[in-house]
Amino acid sequence: MIALVTGASGGIGAAVAKRLTDDGFTVVGLDVDDADVTSSEQVEAFVDRIEDSTGPITALVNTAGILRTGKAVELSDADWAATMAVNTSGVFHVSRAVARRMIPRRAGAIVTVASNASKTARQNMAAYAASKAAATAFTKCLGLELAEFHIRCNVVAPGSTDTPMLTGLWDGSDALLTSVEGSPEAYRVGIPLGRVAQPSDVADAVAFLLSDRAAHITMQDLTVDGGASLGV
Ligand SMILES: NC(=O)c1ccc[n+]([C@@H]2O[C@H](COP(=O)([O-])OP(=O)(O)OC[C@H]3O[C@@H](n4cnc5c(N)ncnc54)[C@H](O)[C@@H]3O)[C@@H](O)[C@H]2O)c1
Repeated sequence: MIALVTGASGGIGAAVAKRLTDDGFTVVGLDVDDADVTSSEQVEAFVDRIEDSTGPITALVNTAGILRTGKAVELSDADWAATMAVNTSGVFHVSRAVARRMIPRRAGAIVTVASNASKTARQNMAAYAASKAAATAFTKCLGLELAEFHIRCNVVAPGSTDTPMLTGLWDGSDALLTSVEGSPEAYRVGIPLGRVAQPSDVADAVAFLLSDRAAHITMQDLTVDGGASLGV
């Protein structure tokens, strides 16, 4: 079993890689030093190289992502384009490259790590939320087209998770406290379960959806946010 994990050097990607290794996968990580997911050429070449040198990819986890914050009316063209390029086109490029190789083998599973922001409006996150909603819709449509080949495609939607992406938003522990308590002035309700996610919480959901225990689950979006989006 060979798993390709994009964004594998990041907080959630590293936890996914560790969890899948523990589950018996040979894990191949792809991060910016290996290939840029915004480039379909680089992605195709990377996937070719892995299939030739390591073997057939049986699982793909799209974890690479970026967060550019800012009010919708003040977002720059560059921030909008970069967000879409990584979070949406990146998922398209890697999923397409891997799915094309999975189809003749009639086996495989794909999970895209999106965000609960794709379903719950958040201030200063318009580009990010839109990019994740698009990646979610893409992954579900891919799942429909690949079902006849027994390839399952699902989404994991984390809420606030203790990684550099979250802590980079504020100053260290304040980010965690703000996430848990919520901020009424920003219409954020906080986290009912009383803590932010650890990357391993997200990795556990990813590992489940890739596993045979999820053999009859496809085109689903599993939220892992301690209840922050109130079940939406
Ligand atoms: N941390 C959170 O609170 C949170 C919440 C919801 C969703 N997510 C999503 O989870 C995923 C992982 O986030 P994280 O918190 O681990 O963030 P992170 O910043 O720790 O990791 C993201 C990784 O993606 C890589 N990456 C960025 N652009 C790339 C590119 N063009 N090509 C290849 N790799 C690239 C980065 O180098 C980094 O290693 C992201 O898609 C993020 O949007 C995170």
